[in-house]
Amino acid sequence: MKVMQLILALLCTSLVSSQSPFLRWGRSFTVDNRTFFKDGKPFRFVSGGMHYFRVPHEYWRDRLRKLRAMGANAVETYIEWSLHEPEPEQFDFAGDADVLKFIQLAQEEDLLVILRPGPYICAERNMGGLPYWLLRLNPSMRLRSSDRQYMYWVNKWMTRMLTMLRPLLYSNGGPIILLQIENEYGSYPDHDPLYMKQLKHIFDRTLGADSPLFFTTDGNWDAYVEKGQVAGAVTTVDFGSSDDPVSEVQRSFDVQRRHDSAAPYVNSEYYTGWLDHWAEPHSTQESPRVANTLNAILSVNANVNLYMFHGGTSFGFSNGANYAGNEPNVTYQPDPTSYDYDAPCNEAGDLTGKYFSLKNVILSYLPNPNITIPVPVSPKLVLPKITLTRDLGSIFDLINSYGSQRVFWTYPLTFEEMHQPNGFLSYTHLVSRDLPKISRLQVNGLHDRAIVCVNDVKVGVLSRMAHRYQMDIALKRSDMLQILVEDQGRIGFNRLNNELKGILGTVRLNDEEIKEWHNQQVPFHRRDFVEYLESLPGTAVGSNSDTESPRVWRGRFILPQEPLDTFVRLPGWTKGNIWINGFNLGRYWPPVGPQITLYLPGVRLRPPPQVNTLLVFELESAPCDQMDNCFVQFTDRHEINAQPHADPAGTYRFVG
Ligand SMILES: *[C@@H]1O[C@H](CO)[C@@H](O)[C@H](O)[C@H]1NC(C)=O
Ligand SMILES: *[C@@H]1O[C@H](CO)[C@@H](O)[C@H](O)[C@H]1NC(C)=O
Ligand SMILES: *[C@@H]1O[C@H](CO)[C@@H](O)[C@H](O)[C@H]1NC(C)=O
Repeated sequence: MKVMQLILALLCTSLVSSQSPFLRWGRSFTVDNRTFFKDGKPFRFVSGGMHYFRVPHEYWRDRLRKLRAMGANAVETYIEWSLHEPEPEQFDFAGDADVLKFIQLAQEEDLLVILRPGPYICAERNMGGLPYWLLRLNPSMRLRSSDRQYMYWVNKWMTRMLTMLRPLLYSNGGPIILLQIENEYGSYPDHDPLYMKQLKHIFDRTLGADSPLFFTTDGNWDAYVEKGQVAGAVTTVDFGSSDDPVSEVQRSFDVQRRHDSAAPYVNSEYYTGWLDHWAEPHSTQESPRVANTLNAILSVNANVNLYMFHGGTSFGFSNGANYAGNEPNVTYQPDPTSYDYDAPCNEAGDLTGKYFSLKNVILSYLPNPNITIPVPVSPKLVLPKITLTRDLGSIFDLINSYGSQRVFWTYPLTFEEMHQPNGFLSYTHLVSRDLPKISRLQVNGLHDRAIVCVNDVKVGVLSRMAHRYQMDIALKRSDMLQILVEDQGRIGFNRLNNELKGILGTVRLNDEEIKEWHNQQVPFHRRDFVEYLESLPGTAVGSNSDTESPRVWRGRFILPQEPLDTFVRLPGWTKGNIWINGFNLGRYWPPVGPQITLYLPGVRLRPPPQVNTLLVFELESAPCDQMDNCFVQFTDRHEINAQPHADPAGTYRFVG
């Protein structure tokens, strides 16, 4: 037995090293002499990043074809653990989560696949793609380390997922040529070298003799690359465009070579644009500069992945967050719903000027596949007024009538403790003593934003973004103090540990701790809660609703034509989420910006004569004093580049 294995191992080694055509299916993808070899011939990839989890699956083929038409020969995507395992051992690989289908479509569209299966992916996703329940199992779990509990779950997940992927590896007839180990681990402050070795072992053990090539990628500085690389994986770097492309490109690849003298030049994340934060200007990257630097990269025979080719959308509550500054004064920076990224193929899948500039550069190095894209910019649906006719009521009433999970406890519980993955959680305290006319309310450890209400009426907003944790409040015996907390997105980059959500500290009134809390889920993560809301009769808008407190509003409409993609504009609305036919389109916050409109994929609309249902959960102020003003619009213009306003904790007025 042992001898047999040894002979097989020797055989495999010699086959690979001589670039033999006798591998299974006659397919091989290897690296030698600072060059990738595909089936024994030198090969260079130009790939484009596109995350299947940010694009409706109905559009995957269209976007992949646009990528191939640009001259690229590969697509790159992360795999998001939290999407596929939303709760421990409950798996989802259907619809928009059907990653195997995505990989198969890529192959059908003549693209190779570069996978970045994490487990951590950053990607401006909630908790960098890690499932929230890790922190429920152990709030002080050391994420991205050899922590035994963390590795227990990583091992289970990675083994399952890599086993699914194995038939799609290049050597097995599939399109997958490269797999990344972790993601920019060199930038992680709580660095643990043992972790990378353990992860690499999981890949090796699961993929065994079919092992494809592995790689790591890190920022183009020695310190990052050195800490991020792992033995047995090609070391690569990532960097963006430059005003001095030739020397910046050379400097970056010199860094790569210093740490891996055998590696082909690879830029694993060449930034075609950049990410956004709420309340900060929209990021863009000038086309000529992006094209010039791409040319400099390709002219030294390097491999490159355009990050992003097509950014897409962080639907629902899937967006992540960053932070700036140092403890104790850290500014929390949540990402908006749009992940347009100023990419060559924009959020709606339309081809931009940047697409054609980059295509020109790519086609001067790679063969033209001669694919015509018949509709480079798709027509959009325009509807000037979709009225929300029904007021479904206060969110506090709605979660009670639905009967969402609640826990009475001395202290406020976290989202994790309440099994609330993301979105909102409600905290209620019944005032049982006499208080001065005006009290000082203080919420310590607020993650991230609180709508403070008394007897269902909003009296103020507290905000981690705005460093605002206290306010004056008029409370008396028998009043209901309600704090509706929004998780605006878990931090996805740099320090991840202990990023729990909810009220993590104490709530104080006139400096005295408030005890006895009624913690209750706001279960938008449950499909039946959204369906329940859709089915409620509600009351007619305009009949004395409290438009300034958190409520749900509903509209129903029949399209006058076949569905098309469109952008939702919310004139007069303030902050909240919007659902179309049960699909959570994401967060809107036009008074803060820079994102004003939300991308609505036409495939989420129903053709006539079917009825479409729109729900809007507005937290702060709805334009619904009369039915005539209570509407949203479908427009053909996507506005993600508005002048941003600060977040002064709910006291802003939108100008301009
Ligand atoms: C390695 O590549 C260089 C150029 O990239 C080439 O000149 C050289 O012949 C190659 N060596 C071998 C052993 O293939
Ligand atoms: C922290 O930074 C914010 C934003 O720059 C500033 O408004 C605040 O005063 C700072 N707080 C402390 C304690 O330094
Ligand atoms: C694309 O068209 C050009 C010009 O007709 C031709 O030279 C080239 O071989 C074609 N490429 C492919 C992949 O068919």
